[in-house]
Amino acid sequence: MSRIQTLLVSLVCLGLPLAAWAQSGKIKIGEYASLTGKEAAFGQSSHKGTVLAIEEINAAGGVLGRQLELVSEDNQSKPGESATIATKLITREKVVALLGEVASSRSIEAAIVAQKYRIPLISPSSTNPKVTEIGNYIFRVCFIDPFQGTALAKFASSHLKARRVAIVTSVSSAYSVGLAKFFREQFVADGGQVVLEQKYSEGDKDFKAQLTAIKAAAPDAIFVPGYYTEAALMCKQARDLGLKQPLFGGDGWEAPELITIGGKAVEGCYYSTHYSPEIPTEAVKTFVKRFKDRWNGETPDAMAALGYDSALVLVDAIRRAGSTEADKIRSALATTKDLEGVTGRTTIDAQRNASKPAVVVEVRNGEFRFVQSVAP
Ligand code: PHE
Repeated sequence: MSRIQTLLVSLVCLGLPLAAWAQSGKIKIGEYASLTGKEAAFGQSSHKGTVLAIEEINAAGGVLGRQLELVSEDNQSKPGESATIATKLITREKVVALLGEVASSRSIEAAIVAQKYRIPLISPSSTNPKVTEIGNYIFRVCFIDPFQGTALAKFASSHLKARRVAIVTSVSSAYSVGLAKFFREQFVADGGQVVLEQKYSEGDKDFKAQLTAIKAAAPDAIFVPGYYTEAALMCKQARDLGLKQPLFGGDGWEAPELITIGGKAVEGCYYSTHYSPEIPTEAVKTFVKRFKDRWNGETPDAMAALGYDSALVLVDAIRRAGSTEADKIRSALATTKDLEGVTGRTTIDAQRNASKPAVVVEVRNGEFRFVQSVAP
């Protein structure tokens, strides 16, 4: 045999076991998350929930007789990074699917890449409608903001008895702009009045100008559809300026930092979210216990619960697909029905979204307390 022939024969001999190994080795799942930076609390929680689910599934034998490997990458909460990471996870790591993100703007970035490569992506907790509108490979396991905005508008009228509301929107966040819009539509339809709208951008720290204008407009309550860092600072500065009205927000407020940054100023403030560790179901109790055992006694929040459920939904789809081929996983995801998880049952609808109850939480004595659940 010539050298070339020997080389070819050995390549083929090596190639066969390699191909077999690729079928029987670990199934790689990619995760892109804000593990550091401005929304590190989101990424860390979501990540811990996902890791717990993957570890439990592996301990129970994995899926299709194979173990799972979670390949996680940090986008540092920065715009632009999620697209780069998604490309790397798909083309270099050859992940079969992507899990992430919490913040809608970053999920949109990665979804564009996943759709281009036709790799399924599941966002655990991004609520802006645009995320799944990117294409038929993009899914989520949480409710969307037309529902959250409506629930908050009803809460403002019925619970806060607010007739006149001011809104402060983060114009650089898809989530904030969307939630402000859906809230406004419902609140006005119910006879409420939006007396003033103010703007800010992600990373801003001084809200005195906006709050001074709001003070003059004298609303009954102030709606801040943003993320916890800015929301907490805004509550502080509102109290410093002598504003006494309740401030309230959506799921973006949920992080321990709301209280560590906001302190006394966030007492009596409200937000809506996806889950509460105080929900008295067996599924939630078991999850809280296992999460605490795994993560140094930490109590899981909504991102942790949804991060956990996103992995359950993906693995259920791989099992039903009987394959790790992207197209087959995609089709199985699209027919997910009544999958029992921590945040309730997940059924994927025709728009690749899930419909779940919302939960309203109040900050009371430095703790997040469950107020009410709103059915979809
Ligand atoms: N829903 C928010 C978004 O789409 C993210 C979020 C989810 C924040 C859950 C907290 C809890 O940007």
